[in-house]
Amino acid sequence: MARNEVGAAHDAEIKAGKQSAVSWAKRVPMALAALVVTASQTAAQEAADAARGAKLAGSVCATCHAIHAGEMRSPDPVAPAFSDVAQWPGMTDRALRVWLQTSHPTMPNFMLKPRDRDDLAAYILSLRKGGSAL
Ligand code: HEC
Repeated sequence: MARNEVGAAHDAEIKAGKQSAVSWAKRVPMALAALVVTASQTAAQEAADAARGAKLAGSVCATCHAIHAGEMRSPDPVAPAFSDVAQWPGMTDRALRVWLQTSHPTMPNFMLKPRDRDDLAAYILSLRKGGSAL
């Protein structure tokens, strides 16, 4: 197709699409507004999850792991401190959840619900750089 033919076809498309372009112009801001609401809800949920994860860690993991920010010595010397785990390169939210899904070596196999894993991972990662989401 020659250059001006492409241009003409494009013009025709614009004319034909004018009506829908107008309604899209109305719809797009609404769709964006919905996205913003979803995003802020997700952020609020993440903060809450880390807090719940901290409670879970205190009741399930603290017998072996140091679970608090800046705490580097675990009750079980073989178990890494959560502050330390959070700094490991490649220790992402996903990597943590996968680890928590597979059986823990040298550790009783506990049944963690998916939500528990998400919350624990959110908590552990909140300890990055010595900080805490709490
Ligand atoms: C009975 C003791 C014990 C309990 C309870 C325990 N852990 Fe562990 N955990 C260990 C030991 C020991 C290791 C080191 C295992 C190894 O390196 O092979 C470990 C390793 C880990 C690691 C490092 C993973 C990696 O990639 O090497 C994470 C993360 C972890 N535990 C999270 C948790 C969480 C979250 C809980 C609570 C839900 C928990 N642990 C409860 C003993 C325990």
